[in-house]
Amino acid sequence: MSVTYRAAGLDDAALASDLMTAAYPTMVHDPVILRYRWEHTRKGYDGGRFIAEREQRPIAFLAWFHGPWEQLPDRHCEVELWLDRAHLDAGLLEEMWTWIGDAGVAQGAGLLLAFCAEDEPEMLEALAALGYRRERAERVWELDLVEHGARLLNEAADARRRMEGDGVHLITVADWDDPSKYRKLYELNERTIQDVPHSVPIVTEAFEDFKNRTRAPDRRDDRWWIGVKGDEVIAMSYLKFPPVRGTVWTGFTCAAREHRGRGIARATKLQSLAQAVDLGIPSVRTDNDSENAPMLHINEALGYVRRPGWVEHHKRVSKTGA
Ligand SMILES: CC(C)(COP(=O)(O)OP(=O)(O)OC[C@H]1O[C@@H](n2cnc3c(N)ncnc32)[C@H](O)[C@@H]1OP(=O)(O)O)[C@@H](O)C(=O)NCCC(=O)NCCS
Repeated sequence: MSVTYRAAGLDDAALASDLMTAAYPTMVHDPVILRYRWEHTRKGYDGGRFIAEREQRPIAFLAWFHGPWEQLPDRHCEVELWLDRAHLDAGLLEEMWTWIGDAGVAQGAGLLLAFCAEDEPEMLEALAALGYRRERAERVWELDLVEHGARLLNEAADARRRMEGDGVHLITVADWDDPSKYRKLYELNERTIQDVPHSVPIVTEAFEDFKNRTRAPDRRDDRWWIGVKGDEVIAMSYLKFPPVRGTVWTGFTCAAREHRGRGIARATKLQSLAQAVDLGIPSVRTDNDSENAPMLHINEALGYVRRPGWVEHHKRVSKTGA
């Protein structure tokens, strides 16, 4: 039974989110958020999305996307495969990874990037068989807010008092009365994102794309926590609340370089966790690079427990990348 591929349009976002969820059921994807992402492709980025079908029935979602080639010396292109587990088969995985990898190469990619979870042995084997090698590991963590709620509320209140003593106000973006607040948040984001351990370049984000992310249906200014000192924002941490289904995740936590090592990131993240406890959220997840020592330390100290993480694979497909 051969597989056929068709391009996916915006109206396929719900189907794609179902297929992604069926491919890795412990990470549920939200249809509204997926569609929003598809509708707001970053400036200079290009992508292709496909539904794989067998006997006219959808069995997988595949995609490639990459940033502006002129800013990417290795011309890296991310490829994705989400095969409904009901159809899991080693030969089919290799066939599909090959198909989407070829699609990336046809775009001019020099390096293919592929992710899968640590607890997906079939995926790991298929990628290894096709010449992808492990490059980095992303840790995934979960925090039980039912078990740890009372402690987190206390720690958040303590941290808030301690920060006030240092002249740092922990508030939400909604409560920050500053006419240039989004520009300042954008600049903090841009500066700190480069300090996340990474192997391929992190492309500068256009301000408009940053604004689009902040307006996503899983974000709210009154749930976006920041540390403000004087008229500067020096830290942020926020959770994303999927509108239809899925787990609440931390989007990004950061502290300005000159203020690190004083507990500001942990204090800010604690405010977002305390708010989630108050909202009755049972558990939250977060992820971070396995070499991000301070963030690993913060998550461990907050009581997060490790779950299977993600493996970033690389495959060089041209010597020069050109
Ligand atoms: C990660 C980051 C947010 C930490 O900010 P911060 O304000 O310095 O963090 P805190 O002071 O609240 O806590 C850092 C903790 O890590 C510890 N730490 C720092 N470096 C460490 C290391 N190399 N190994 C182990 N622990 C370390 C600190 O001692 C502190 O723990 P303690 O309070 O128990 O002493 C900041 O470095 C940053 O913005 N990095 C870039 C963005 C980023 O990587 N964000 C996370 C993406 S998932």
